[in-house]
Order: sequence, then C-alpha cells, then structure tokens
Amino acid sequence: MDFEFTKDQKMLQEEVRKFADAHIAPDAAEIDQSRDFPWKNIKKTAEMGLLGIIVPEKYGGSGFDYISLAIAIEELSRCCASTGVIVAVNNSLVTYPIVAFGTEEQKQKYLPALCSGEKLGAFGLTEPNAGSDVAGMETTARLEGDHYIINGTKRFITNAGEAGTFIVFASTDRNLKHKGISTFIVERDTPGFSLGKHEDLMGVRATANCELIFEDAKIPKENLLGKEGQGFMIAMNVLDVSRIDIGAQAVGIAQSALDESVKYAKERKAFGQPIGNFEMIQNMLAEMATQICAARFLVYYAGHCKNKGMPRFSRESAMSKYYGATIAVDVARKGVQIHGGYGYTKDYPIERIYRDAKILELYEGTSEIQKIVIARDLLK
Ligand code: CAA
Repeated sequence: MDFEFTKDQKMLQEEVRKFADAHIAPDAAEIDQSRDFPWKNIKKTAEMGLLGIIVPEKYGGSGFDYISLAIAIEELSRCCASTGVIVAVNNSLVTYPIVAFGTEEQKQKYLPALCSGEKLGAFGLTEPNAGSDVAGMETTARLEGDHYIINGTKRFITNAGEAGTFIVFASTDRNLKHKGISTFIVERDTPGFSLGKHEDLMGVRATANCELIFEDAKIPKENLLGKEGQGFMIAMNVLDVSRIDIGAQAVGIAQSALDESVKYAKERKAFGQPIGNFEMIQNMLAEMATQICAARFLVYYAGHCKNKGMPRFSRESAMSKYYGATIAVDVARKGVQIHGGYGYTKDYPIERIYRDAKILELYEGTSEIQKIVIARDLLK
C-alpha cells in the first residue's frame, strides 16, 4: 500500500493550497453575506486548470486523476466552501459525464469552454417533488422531429444562475420509471428554458443556486447524452464520482474548523491561561484531528478505486461522502463550542464554517441515501 502522493499530486496540492490561501480565503466571508457569485476567483481557478481537472488535455483539460481532483477540492473548500462546490460541480457533475458518456462531437463542442471558464456547468437532477427518489422525477422529454421537447422544473441546482451548460435529466417514458430517464446537454439560451427562484441558503451561499424551468424547451436531438433510457445509470455513475468530491469538500471544511479552533485555543485566555491548556479543549481538538484524518483516507481510497478503473465503487464513494459529511458537521460544532459565545457571532469564521458544513449531509444524496447505498452493497 502506497501512502505517498505522486510528484504531480504533491505539486498540485502545494499550488492549490498557496493559491486558495492567497485568493480564495480573503473573499469567503464577504461572498457568504452578499451571495455574489465569485466569478473573479472562478476565472483564476480556470487559469490554473482547476475547472477541467480530469478532462483529457486534448479537450482543454488538465488530464489529472481522481485523487488529484479530491486534493484540489479539499484545498479550495478549506478556504471557501462555496468556491469548493462551484468547482466540484463543474468538474465531476458536468465535465465528467461528457467525458464518460459524450460523443466525440459533444466532447469537442462542450469541454473546452467548460475547462476555460468561458461557460460554467450545472447539473439538473433534483426536482421540487423528487430529490432522493430520482426515478420519481416528473420532468418529461418527448422527441418531435429533430428536437426533444422538455417540460418540468428542477430545484436546488448549484451554479445554475451563472451556468452556460446544463446536464439535465428528464423522463422519455414515465411508465418505465428509472429505465425511462434520459440525459441531455442543455444550453443556457435554449428557447423555453429559464431560471426560477434564486435560493437564499443557510450555507454555501454564493453558489447561484436556482430553479430551472422548462416550458416546451427545444433541445436538439444530438444533445442527448448517452442513449435514451440510460439517464438513471448515468446519474448514479456520475454521483459515484462526485460524492468523492463532496467527501473531499467535507475534509476541507472540517480542516478549516480545526485550524481556526487551534488558533483560538492558543490565543484565548481563561482562568489566567490559554484555553488550549485545558484538557476538555484538548479532548475536542484531538477528536477533531483524528476524525479529519480518517475521513481524508476514505476520500483518497475512493479516488484510488476510481483511478484503478473499478467498474463499481458506489460503496467506497458513499462511505467517503457519508463519513466526511458526518465528521465535518461534528468537527464544526466542536469548533463553535471551543470558540464559546464568539463562535456564535460573525466575528469569527467558525460560524460560517458550521453553516457551510450542514449542506454536506444533504446534497449529492443525503446521509440516509449514502447508508442505503452502503447497506445494499453489503447485502447484495
Ligand atoms: N451505477 C450504475 N448503476 C446503478 C448504480 C450505480 N451507482 N446504482 C444503481 N444502479 C442501477 C441498479 O443496478 C438498477 O439496475 P437494474 O434496473 O438493471 O436492476 C437500477 O440502477 C435501479 O437501481 P435502484 O433499484 O438501486 O434504484 P432506486 O430507485 O432504489 O434508487 C438510490 C437508488 C440510491 C436511492 C438513488 O435514487 C439515489 O442515489 N438517490 C439520491 C439522489 C441524489 O444523490 N441526488 C443528488 C442531486 S445532485 C446535487 O445535489 C448536486 C448539487 O447541487 C451539489
């Protein structure tokens, strides 16, 4: 077993860490409050090749592996959870399905702009009445001549307000349930496609999370991704990859909670000494550090399974997401506890970190869904 990063992974970690500390961290508190989409920083991530991390170089990507993707998402999320998930979505929920399931024409047409930041990507799966139950989606697509006509609404879509390219799921035959779902690449200026409500979220607030509204939206036939009826399998396959990134995001968020807490424990005095001298504080810090370390190894292991080309790694990916989300919320809660009353104010970053952590247990499959995926694999 090799616990060392490759030379490229090490270099990437150093570069992204330096970049995130210098450019991403300083804006995190402000965009959390304003909800302004961090375009300036997203353009910089594009210049560093972080919008197409696993995309082959011939389509404008960086051609790295899936552990590298996790490393980059962890470092960005450590400094700003919004930026971390914006970049994660563009990579694993949008460029990855095009790389894995797209035709040569689709790859050439869509990947270079998604890698350069000219067009950002969003992933339209969740609906107002169908979140966990993907097969229960109500959005429909019917073929008419050279076009599919899409009708329906998607909700809670990260990046939607600023995206130019959308991966959208719709049912081409509702009687077939999961076997009737298909995947489409939808462009922002498609007639009949518009944006709805911009969500005012508790955390990851700068992510332009909006509804997608399809009213007889006309999608060219050649924008079907994969085959008709393959959509459910594509969604699950893509989520197997993207949940590794959410595990990595969790590690980054938890690491920032620990870093802030160690700093505070050294500075803050009570009873005539730094609170870090007290064993109850030390107990929390030791638990936090151990939880983060364990979660990080689960993320790397899931990335390793994907790198190795394992045909199914749903269990490993769900474990990394489930455990990462659980410990990130717990680590952030302990961080607030260490900060005492100040942790409940906007004077310290830990308040934002705690709010940001909660989404990890909800998006890209709730923690309950991850446990279903893990248990079904155990019992099969
Ligand atoms: N890879 C390939 N095939 C898969 C698969 C996978 N990972 N998982 C399931 N399948 C196949 C099954 O083998 C089965 O195939 P057959 O028809 O040949 O038997 C078929 O798909 C149906 O599988 P299930 O019976 O397991 O389907 P289900 O309806 O019970 O659903 C589920 C399973 C795990 C609950 C799934 O619906 C799920 O993951 N739900 C959560 C959805 C989710 O994560 N949404 C997140 C939205 S994206 C987001 O949040 C982005 C953002 O903004 C940040």
